[in-house]
Amino acid sequence: MFGFTFAKHLVGRLREEYALCCRPYAFPGAERVHRSAIVLRDPWCELSIGEGSTVEHGTILLARNERHESMAINSHIRIGRNCYIGQYNNLRTGGGAIDIGDEVYIAQFVSLIASGHGIAAGVPMRLQPIPEKRNVRIGNSAWIGVGATVLPGVTIGEGAVIGAGAVVTKDVPPQAIVGGVPAALIHYRT
Ligand SMILES: CC(C)(COP(=O)(O)OP(=O)(O)OC[C@H]1O[C@@H](n2cnc3c(N)ncnc32)[C@H](O)[C@@H]1OP(=O)(O)O)[C@@H](O)C(=O)NCCC(=O)NCCS
Repeated sequence: MFGFTFAKHLVGRLREEYALCCRPYAFPGAERVHRSAIVLRDPWCELSIGEGSTVEHGTILLARNERHESMAINSHIRIGRNCYIGQYNNLRTGGGAIDIGDEVYIAQFVSLIASGHGIAAGVPMRLQPIPEKRNVRIGNSAWIGVGATVLPGVTIGEGAVIGAGAVVTKDVPPQAIVGGVPAALIHYRT
């Protein structure tokens, strides 16, 4: 019992150490990853930032599987080329995956949430399974306005625009401009 507890403690410490070690210089192709960006990743989860991309200060990049999940779930964050990820964004896998194309522009205080928790009655949240609806995909050249939230299972089409403050619960077609809670079509880019 003591051995198990100690091993668990050690694994926890190693994860934290790894997170601390995973500093901006781990992304040599990127234009800039501000030193105050918080990068937390499990060793088995990919986190890549493409050439010419910038991650601004205070943004959280969390590429992790929840601890009760199978490690077979391939959580990752992949950011394409020439993307701009502004200040204080929250990119969080927790058992899902986030794929961002090229030339994507993400403003500030945006949340990309790739997974959640089941909501079955009578089961503590920490024991809820990860629902099937997971992953977030952002197409090339999309723009996500300030304070928007993109929920698990959503794909944002190429060139789409997400209005400030939107909560995106469904896929967004290419070139569409959406806004509101839940996000609805405003019009298409012309
Ligand atoms: C979504 C957005 C691009 C729309 O711009 P637009 O095409 O010029 O739209 P308009 O201002 O002509 O507004 C069209 C309609 O959409 C509504 N609308 C605009 N932005 C909206 C938003 N964020 N959420 C909900 N509805 C919105 C307007 O009220 C208007 O409604 P109406 O026709 O009933 O009057 C813009 O309003 C926006 O949210 N930009 C994000 C800005 C930002 O986050 N900047 C961060 C700095 S990097």
